[in-house]
Parts: sequence; structure tokens; C-alpha cells
Amino acid sequence: MAPKTVVTMGTSGYIGKATLAALGSPDFADKFVVKAGVRDVSKGLGDLAPNTALVAADYSKRESMKAAFTGADVVILIAPGVENRTQLLISALEVAKEVGVPFVILFSVPTVQSAYGRFGSDFLPIEQRAKDLGLPHVACRIPIFTDNQWGNKDSIVGQGCIYCPQKPDAGFVTITTADVGLAFATIANDGVEKHVGKAYFLCCPKYTYNDLTKAFSDALGKPVNYVQVPYEVASQQMQGSGYPGWIADGTCELMKGIDAEVPDLVTYSDDFETIVGRKATSIQEWVKACAPGFKA
Ligand SMILES: NC(=O)c1ccc[n+]([C@@H]2O[C@H](COP(=O)([O-])OP(=O)(O)OC[C@H]3O[C@@H](n4cnc5c(N)ncnc54)[C@H](OP(=O)(O)O)[C@@H]3O)[C@@H](O)[C@H]2O)c1
Repeated sequence: MAPKTVVTMGTSGYIGKATLAALGSPDFADKFVVKAGVRDVSKGLGDLAPNTALVAADYSKRESMKAAFTGADVVILIAPGVENRTQLLISALEVAKEVGVPFVILFSVPTVQSAYGRFGSDFLPIEQRAKDLGLPHVACRIPIFTDNQWGNKDSIVGQGCIYCPQKPDAGFVTITTADVGLAFATIANDGVEKHVGKAYFLCCPKYTYNDLTKAFSDALGKPVNYVQVPYEVASQQMQGSGYPGWIADGTCELMKGIDAEVPDLVTYSDDFETIVGRKATSIQEWVKACAPGFKA
């Protein structure tokens, strides 16, 4: 079978790079020709797999998307973390419809189900527009990234602590960016018939921050303690490390939702396992695999 042409958008972020890694991996390399959409091709994107090439494509420039999407079998739309992402994604969906893209894999978030918080409100109109356009698509709802724990590296290494406002015994679900990439590549390979019209919630088994600190303590052979901080302090710290205010506040909103057991944030779904054939990476597996990076 001829390889499918896959175009990715939002490619240079964490999810985009993980998606390229999966699309270019030995399991999929001969199944896809990948056009990795970036705003500035001259910046490059590090080493690319042999089946992957950069293409100029900007969410804010319809003509660039038209050129990039024409002839694609699958377009993977990964939303950039920018304030106007609702408009950008809707514009990309409209272009995909206009040029007749046969299958769109749409990045979304689980909180669209209850329209909870800023992030749920951002993505709800995007999913709605895809439906209204009659665009053949699948929505993949992605919770907090497990990999965000790299942001706690300094305090884990230096003080044996994780500072966070979330309740330590509040159960929640996350997903590794690598698992998201694998799910996207699997869905692209399966094709439109199997997934069209579906909405998946991709997440790992439920855990708490108490489970997380235990996993770090076990893997590192030293105590790692949980220090609960006020939400205002957490938001200020995130902004101090460079996150815009709306992202910092939106992230705190998610953690408050976890404390309050909002179902979209705390309910396990086996969608990842159904798609990929194994459970998503658990927090214990992720910490064990990444432990060397948290030692110094
Ligand atoms: N961190 C979490 O726990 C979490 C959880 C759920 C959802 N999210 C959301 O997940 C999404 C993906 O996150 P991420 O970290 O992988 O990606 P990201 O870094 O937020 O954005 C991905 C890429 O999008 C590109 N981009 C920005 N503006 C663009 C535009 N106008 N047109 C085309 N591309 C543009 C940029 O690449 P170029 O400059 O190369 O074009 C950027 O590197 C974000 O919306 C984020 O808010 C995050």
C-alpha cells in the first residue's frame, strides 16, 4: 500500500515533536510521508526521520494552510498554546474542509465535556465547528501532560520536594506526550473509517500526588515530599517561569477542578488502550523510566 501523506500543525511543541517521533518510528516509517508544518522552515526542527520534511504552514495564514493541506490523506491539528487558538483552529478546520482533507485528527481537551474553565471554553467551539462543517474528523482530548513533572526537577533534585497547590490525595489522570504521539500515529494508520466521528479521552491510570512522590522516592532512593502551596502562589510561580497569566490561571483552574472531582478531570478512560493495544504509561512507569534525569 502507498504511504499516506500526513500533515502536522503545531509541530514544534511537545505534542508535535512526540507525534513526529511516532510517525517516523520503525513501526510506522514506511506507512507515512510526513509534512511537518512550521511557521518558519528556516529555523529547522532538529533531526528529522527520513520520511519527514518541513513545510511552511501557519495557523494565521489560510493560504499557507491551503497549500500544505492540499493532497494530504490526514491532517493532524495540534493547537498552539496561544490566546487566540480557538480562532486559529477554526480557521484550519475551514481550510481543511475547503480543500477536501479526507481525515483530520483534532487535538482537544477533556474539559469540553462540561465546558469547564478557560481551556474547556477554548476547545468547545473548535469541536463544534468541526461537526458543523461535516468534516471527517476524530477529537482526541488530552489532559495535563505527565511530562510537566520535568518542571519540578530543580526542587526534586535540590530539596527533595514537589511544590504544588493540588490536594495531595486528589486522584487525577494525565498522559505522556510520547503516548499522545503514538495514539495519533496509530489513528492515522488505522484510517478514517475506524475513527471518524469519535471523541477519545487519552489518559493513564488514575493517581494522586501522594502516589507520585512515592514513585519518585522509590525510584530515586531518597524521600521526595509533597508541599501544598496556595493557588495564588502557584500561579505567580508559573508566571515567574515564563508562562502567560491565562495559561497559569487556566492550569490552576484545572487543579482546582481535580480537587473538586470534576468528572472530566478525574475519570479514567480506556480509550488509549482500545486504540493502541496497551494501557497508557502509568505514573510509576514514567517516573522509573525518567529517574536518571531527576538525579542531578
Ligand atoms: N502542558 C499541559 O499539561 C497541557 C495539557 C493539555 C493541553 N495543553 C495544550 O496543548 C497544546 C499543545 O501544547 P505543546 O506544548 O505541544 O505546543 P505549544 O508549544 O503550545 O505550541 C506548538 C507550536 O505551535 C506553533 N504555533 C504557534 N503559533 C502558531 C501559529 N499562529 N501558526 C502555526 N503554528 C503556531 C509553534 O511552532 P512554530 O513557532 O514552529 O510555528 C509552537 O511551537 C497547547 O494548546 C497547550 O496549551 C497543554
